[in-house]
Amino acid sequence: MSNFIKACRGEPVDRTPIWVMRQAGRYLPEYQKVRSQTTFLGLCKNPDWAAEVTLQPLRRFGMDAGIIFSDILVPVEAMGMALRFDEGIGPLLPEPITGSSDVESLIVPDPSDTMGFVGDAIKRVCAVVPETPLIGFAGAPFTLASYMIEGRGSRVFDKAKKFMFEQPKLWKQMSEKLVQTITAHLLMQVESGCQAVQIFDSWAGHLSPVDYLNFAFPYTVEIIDQIKAKTDVPVILFAKGVHSCYEELSTCGADVLGVDWTMPLDRARELTKNRVSLQGNLDPITLLGPADRIEKQAQRVLKEAKGCRGHIFNLGHGIHKTTPPEHLKVLVDLVRREGRGSI
Ligand code: CP3
Repeated sequence: MSNFIKACRGEPVDRTPIWVMRQAGRYLPEYQKVRSQTTFLGLCKNPDWAAEVTLQPLRRFGMDAGIIFSDILVPVEAMGMALRFDEGIGPLLPEPITGSSDVESLIVPDPSDTMGFVGDAIKRVCAVVPETPLIGFAGAPFTLASYMIEGRGSRVFDKAKKFMFEQPKLWKQMSEKLVQTITAHLLMQVESGCQAVQIFDSWAGHLSPVDYLNFAFPYTVEIIDQIKAKTDVPVILFAKGVHSCYEELSTCGADVLGVDWTMPLDRARELTKNRVSLQGNLDPITLLGPADRIEKQAQRVLKEAKGCRGHIFNLGHGIHKTTPPEHLKVLVDLVRREGRGSI
C-alpha cells in the first residue's frame, strides 16, 4: 500500500507523503503550453489533455499522489447552469439561482452521461501510473451553492447567506440536490480508479460556527456517509477556516482533515483528539520565497505534525499561480529527506 493511503488510514509509513492542492496548474510552463491550445473548460472536458496535465506534476516532482484535473464547478454545469471562466475573473455563472423556480429546474445528473470525461481522464491516468494513488474530488454543497447564488466568487457571500437565512427550506432543497449530484460524481470517480476522494469546502470559514453546523455541515456528512456505505476509499475533508468545529469534523466519518495555515497542526491534533489524520499546512505564499525560508517553514510543519495519527504534507490551500516551480521542488526534496513519518 502507498505511503499516502497508509497515512490517510493512520498506519505507519516509511516517510511523510506529499502532494499539493492545485498541483496541476498555471505555475507550470508545461501546463501553460497545453492550456494555450484551448479554454479552461475545454481542457477539463478533453480526457487526453486532462490526463496529461494531471501527470505533469507527478513527472516533474514525483508527488506521492495525483489529483485528477477538473474543477469543482463541472457538476454545477451538469446540473443545468450556464458556466464560463473569464480570463482574470475566474468562474462566472451568468444566470445565478434567485428563487424556487431556479432550484426546481436544477437537474440531478447521471455522472457517466454528463461528466464521463472526468471518468475517462481518470482511467487514462491510472493506466499510465498505476502505482501512484489518484485523488478524486468535489466541492462541498455550501461552497458550490455559494457560487450558484452569487454567480461568481465573492468576498462576503452576502447573496448566498441572505438566501440561506431568508429561505431555509429552499436552501435545504438545493443542498439536497447537491448532495445527490456530488455523491454520484465522487462514486463515479472511485469506480473509474481513484483511490481516495477530497471534498473542498473552501469558503466554509465565512460562516459563523452555528451557521456552518446548521446550514453546511449536515449535507457534507450525508455525502461522507454515502461514500463510506458504498466504498472503502479514504475521505479527506478540507473545510477551510472551520477551526472551532474540529470536534464535529473529527467524528464525522472523514479519515483526514485538511488544515489551512492559520491553525498549527499540533493544535489541530489536540482539538481532534488525534482521531483523524491531518493534511497540510504550509502557507502557499511561502513558496514565493526566499528559498531558505521554505525549508525552515517546512521543518516547522513537520515538527508540529509529530505524533499525529497520520500526516500528509500539503499546502494550507492551493498553490499560487506565480510560484516558481523550482521552489516547489525545494519543498518536495526537503519533505522527502526529513519527513520520516509521524508514527
Ligand atoms: O488540484 C488540482 O491540481 C486539480 C485541479 C483543480 C482545479 N480547481 C483546477 C483549476 C481543483 C481541485 C480545483 C478546485 C477548485 N476550483 C476550488 C476548490 C479549491 C480551492 O482552491 O479553493 C475552487 C474554489 C474552484 C473554483 C475555481 N476554478 C476558481 C476560483 C478558479 C479561478 C482561479 C483564478 O485565480 O483565476 C478556477 C479555475 C481553475 N481551476 C484553474 C485551475 C488550474 C485556472 C484556470 C486556467 O488555467 O486559467
